Amino acid sequence: MSPFIRPRRLRTTPAMRAMVAETRVAPAQLMMPVFVREGISEPVEIKAMPSQYQHTTDSIKKLAAELAEAGVGGIDLFGVPADEQKDETGSIAWDPEGILNRGIAAVREEVGDALVVCADTCLDEFTSHGHCGVLTEDGRVDNDPTLDLYAKMALSQARAGAHMVSPSGMMDGQVEVIRQALDEGGYQDVSIMAYSAKYASAFFGPFREAVSCNLKGDRKTYQQDPANRIEGLREALLDISEGADIVMVKPASHYLDVLADVAGAVDVPVAAYQVSGEYAMVEAAAANGWIDRERAIDESIVSIARAGANIILTYWALEYARRGK
Ligand code: PBG
Repeated sequence: MSPFIRPRRLRTTPAMRAMVAETRVAPAQLMMPVFVREGISEPVEIKAMPSQYQHTTDSIKKLAAELAEAGVGGIDLFGVPADEQKDETGSIAWDPEGILNRGIAAVREEVGDALVVCADTCLDEFTSHGHCGVLTEDGRVDNDPTLDLYAKMALSQARAGAHMVSPSGMMDGQVEVIRQALDEGGYQDVSIMAYSAKYASAFFGPFREAVSCNLKGDRKTYQQDPANRIEGLREALLDISEGADIVMVKPASHYLDVLADVAGAVDVPVAAYQVSGEYAMVEAAAANGWIDRERAIDESIVSIARAGANIILTYWALEYARRGK
């Protein structure tokens, strides 16, 4: 038998395959998550994330300039304060002299508007207990008192120069209070990228080292259960109703179904965050010679775009953009 319909015809040469590719990822749609740390004079490599660093305010500027040069769309900043600056509420998070706000200011000074300068708006890097919000007397994460702190933090980030803030703490109502605080403060044009469908994931493991987080226990009372798909869409729709400009699904690779659902249902841009564990797994397997590193990176990123992400946060943003894929 000789078939006359042959899908293989469109796979015959690299040029043919490139021509019919359904999904392309442009550097402009990538964001690079980066860490800026208090009290260091040289960048410190993160062991569980080879080639990723805790940066000084100087080295973060250099990296930001490189990202802009490579055409990467944005940078997402996380702060790592000194241990003795951490307290029960994470107050250094909204201090204009805190490391994250100084990092934002340094990056804005360096790149102006050449990158979308985004900041993570969450307290876990800044609290002594490592939770994303304040605790009740019996140790539960207390939603409503945390909201005011997020509002203060977001406002301080806008003042420091952030184009975009990014609440990642999964407190109910967080987008609404932040939108209100930004508007009242005169920052109507600062946008909100909401971590909407964020799951209590083991794949955040290496990030704990990256931000020197003190968490004992887990975040299962505020982040989502990995078993839940419909709830991911619910969270995204809620955030849009509260004023989110962009909604995010996180982690990315193990939640492509949720990502596809959200992308099919909403009328705002959708982001996906390829998290520290996704990065670490590929790097570790590649270092052992068990996987083709570049192919695995490219495949993972294109898969996230194929599932519907308009924006991809990835620690490979700079490398990927430079490689010209
Ligand atoms: C919370 C936050 C986390 C990550 C981004 N924001 C950690 C967590 O929720 O436990 C994880 C990012 C990654 O793993 O790359 N501020």
